[in-house]
Amino acid sequence: MQVVIRETKDAAVRLAAAVIAAALRETPHLVLGLATGRTMEALYARLAAMHQEERLDFSLAVTFNLDEYIGLGPDHKNSYHYYMRHHLFQHVNIDPRNTHLPDGMARDIAAECRRYEERIRSFGGIDLQVLSIGISGHIGFNEPLSSMRSRTREKALTPQTIAQNSPLFDRPEEMPRRAITMGVGTILEAGRCLMLVTGDTKAAVVAKAVEGPVTSMISATALQLHPDTTVILDEEAAADLENKDYYRWIFENEPEWQPYREAGL
Ligand code: GLP
Repeated sequence: MQVVIRETKDAAVRLAAAVIAAALRETPHLVLGLATGRTMEALYARLAAMHQEERLDFSLAVTFNLDEYIGLGPDHKNSYHYYMRHHLFQHVNIDPRNTHLPDGMARDIAAECRRYEERIRSFGGIDLQVLSIGISGHIGFNEPLSSMRSRTREKALTPQTIAQNSPLFDRPEEMPRRAITMGVGTILEAGRCLMLVTGDTKAAVVAKAVEGPVTSMISATALQLHPDTTVILDEEAAADLENKDYYRWIFENEPEWQPYREAGL
């Protein structure tokens, strides 16, 4: 795992977008795993701007989202289908047929989960999985005690997650209590993971996820087992980390980051 700390939220978002753009330019057929949530809104706005200003091309890209609420159709304003159209897909030249999210309205949820896994496999797996982290330490909706080997499945949401996400609903009590989510095992099979976390409300959980022991209580700690994970943080989200000087040194010195440093990121 590599950790990169940037001064501000904007700088962290710009760096994460530049990493995604570099992957997309290198592999136009990139299979991109996508996340939702407030953190991602700024990232998608930046990618949309790069499409407008720098012709960042999504025409051949394929996307798979991590999760979807059970019981919300694609036109419900709080569904992740709607979120993705609204924040990214509408603003870039991606072919809607190449975008995938679990169907939260499926009659047979277990069959839908199996279908989703098969679909990911049919594209040769995810090349780059973008993630953030929930207050409960979840990635996707892999709530505490999610098996490290779990696959796409139905998951009950914790009261903490419900408290975190229900204010986004017009009527908070209408937030679904269950979701379909890629499993931790599904996520760990991605070629590369990129986690973006910003803001002081995440500082404690980031420290546990990055420097704490690997535990299914914090599913993000599973990323410590992944061979190629980059975590990009702003100073606020990095506040509780112990090894900040080392992480800063990595960005300033490692050749991998040189093109980004030269680009003023
Ligand atoms: C939801 C998503 C997660 C995301 C989390 C963070 O719970 N299922 O994938 O990481 O929100 O949300 P926010 O960025 O709003 O803090």
